[in-house]
Amino acid sequence: MYNLLKGKKGIIFGALNEQSIAWKTAKACFNEGAELVLTNAPIALRMGEINQLSKECNNAPVIPADVVNMEDLKKLFEESVKHLGGGIDFILHSIGMSVNMRKGKHYTAMDYGFNQKTLDISAMSLHRVLRTAWDMDALNEGASVVALTYIAAQRVFPDYNEMADAKALLENVTRNFGYHYAIKKKVRINTISQSPTRTTAGSGVKGFDGFINYAEKMSPLGNASAEDCANYCVLMFSDYAKMVTMQNLFHDGGFSFTGVTQEVIEQMEK
Ligand SMILES: NC(=O)c1ccc[n+]([C@@H]2O[C@H](COP(=O)([O-])OP(=O)(O)OC[C@H]3O[C@@H](n4cnc5c(N)ncnc54)[C@H](O)[C@@H]3O)[C@@H](O)[C@H]2O)c1
Repeated sequence: MYNLLKGKKGIIFGALNEQSIAWKTAKACFNEGAELVLTNAPIALRMGEINQLSKECNNAPVIPADVVNMEDLKKLFEESVKHLGGGIDFILHSIGMSVNMRKGKHYTAMDYGFNQKTLDISAMSLHRVLRTAWDMDALNEGASVVALTYIAAQRVFPDYNEMADAKALLENVTRNFGYHYAIKKKVRINTISQSPTRTTAGSGVKGFDGFINYAEKMSPLGNASAEDCANYCVLMFSDYAKMVTMQNLFHDGGFSFTGVTQEVIEQMEK
């Protein structure tokens, strides 16, 4: 370990279980010297799995917050600032939920009420988090915010359904709020576009096995794991990335810029 985050204080959204990217990121940040607050939706905390993560991170407090509830977010930031004894240096937004997918609705037959909810939870929630921090002046100068996204925001992956639109919106909020927060306080806001990863949210995508195997064959370095993603988040939270903002950063073993691989060609020739 390099103590890259020594003295830094962060809030991690979205650790549901040991597979969660947020879980691995919390551990990686803790191992690099950060002090943490953990949060998730009240319903996700019911299983209590997060208490194990809290223990492994020096009893980091677990504060419930539904990310579309402004009162919850205000309380979360108030309690975090109190617990951490000062402003916040980094935030991980690792949240996604598609109501239409959950209800088995095809993209062409979506329910627009469900869609509003999906966009709010998966994309506008980033705006809600940043806006709460902005109003309370809860972020320190040069703080770093990372949200997780997927390449379906740029290219069509039919089974990704409405989440593709949600990710496009998330990436746009990143750029727009990134501009304003950079001017205000040198805060950096970026998205990391991660390879398919076996987690609760990931496995919810129809045909996930085919999806992840195809990505593996189409990525010169192979798929990036959740642990690799956690380490990339650490780098983005560290001072070594202090001039990087408003970017969508592909963390996908080269998938995004690969037209075809020899392996896929050989498969097609069979
Ligand atoms: N797994 C993949 O293949 C993959 C690939 C690229 C990007 N991502 C993104 O990574 C992020 C994390 O997902 P994951 O794969 O670790 O799965 P995960 O299921 O472990 O995490 C999703 C989290 O979102 C939380 N959440 C849902 N609704 C919420 C709400 N209203 N308020 C607060 N939290 C809420 C869940 O409780 C859960 O902890 C998501 O944004 C996902 O889209 C995942």
